[in-house]
This record gives sequence, C-alpha cells and structure tokens, in this order.
Amino acid sequence: MRKRVAILISGRGSNMMALAEAARAPDYPAQIVAVLSNRPAAPGLDHARSLGLKTVSIDHKAYATREAFDAAIEAVLLGEGVELVAQAGFMRIQSVAFATRWLGRQLNIHPSLLPSFKGLHPQKQALEAGVRISGCTVHFVSPELDSGPIIAQAAVPVHVGDTPETLAERILEAEHRLYPFALQLVASGAARLEGGRVELQSMLNQRDFLFSPKA
Ligand code: GRF
Repeated sequence: MRKRVAILISGRGSNMMALAEAARAPDYPAQIVAVLSNRPAAPGLDHARSLGLKTVSIDHKAYATREAFDAAIEAVLLGEGVELVAQAGFMRIQSVAFATRWLGRQLNIHPSLLPSFKGLHPQKQALEAGVRISGCTVHFVSPELDSGPIIAQAAVPVHVGDTPETLAERILEAEHRLYPFALQLVASGAARLEGGRVELQSMLNQRDFLFSPKA
C-alpha cells in the first residue's frame, strides 16, 4: 500500500515537484494526494495543478490564531486520509500541539547540515561561518524549529567566491535528489523514529567521503 502524502508549501515548490515526480514511479512507496499552501499566490500551486495534483490554499491571514490555522490544515489532512506530511518550503511555524500530534509522520527539508544553521538564511549563515561543506537535511518535524530527528543528509561543497545565491542553487540540486529518497525511506519503513532518533534499516555509502577543497 502506497502511503498517502500531503505536501505543505508557501512558495515556488521545486521540492514539491521533485517529490511529485518521484511518486509517479509505480514502485514508489508514496502517493501525493494533496498540495496545501498557506499563500494563495504561491507559484507552486500552479505547478502542482499542472501535474494534475489536488491543491488546497488556506490563507493563514484569515485565521486569528496559529491553532485555528493548524486546525484548518488538519481538517484537510484527515479528510484526505493523509498518513505522511512533507513540508517543502512551508514558511509557517506550527503549534506545539499539531507538531507533537504529527511527530514521526511529518517531514521537512532544510538547506543546511543540521544542527548547524537553523532558521532563516542558512546559506548566508554557512558562508559567514566559513564552512567548506554545507548541504541539506531531511528531518522529522518536532515542535522546536529545525530540530527534529534527522532522516537523511546530503553534503555540498562550498566554492571559492560563493554567494548565498550560488550556494543555495547548488544545495537545491541536492535537495531535489535527497527529499524523494528520504520520503521513500520513511514511506517504506526503512527509516523509523525510535527513542527520539531515526533508525535506518540499512546504511548506504558508508565508505564515501566528501573533501572540500578536494584532497
Ligand atoms: C528550499 O531550499 C527548502 O530547503 C527550504 O525552502 C526552500 C524551498 O524551495 N525550506 P522550493 O519552494 O521547494 O523551491
């Protein structure tokens, strides 16, 4: 049985598209049943519609409290029989109650190697810190921002002369490969939340190293 997945977006939705693309494969263990946006003008909604996906826009500005907005989102999730939620550029902090209820069933992608560079502008933070390697992380969403159990990461070299924009572009390419893989791990049961950490059924590429600059 393919897991029923909803994707939460706020913007252009390129990660949403990568997930939707992957889910077209008949042997992919998840199907995208809805794309929800808190911004009615999010360009990602049009992209989702062009793929024939169901879209729902729930403007957070129409709700007096975080809890009321989360309840509106949850009503859609329950109505669609959603089993897993994937945040993809979703720019809303959720209530503790919602995040706790969906713990282990809600994923997010962040463009840094967590726990480094949480929050806004992680690529700029990485350049300011002078790291030679950054990347992206898919993690389970917990009530604390960008702090939930890590599912999968991809490392990306920082190049001489990088700007936040050039680094973001390089990381985004990795995101589009990592997120479908991470969702597959969770949907298939190969990655499971156990005692606050994610246990993997099997480890891949354990002997690979990324050097930056190249050794
Ligand atoms: C991505 O870099 C993602 O990691 C971050 O926000 C950006 C969203 O991009 N959370 P897109 O909307 O998926 O194109």
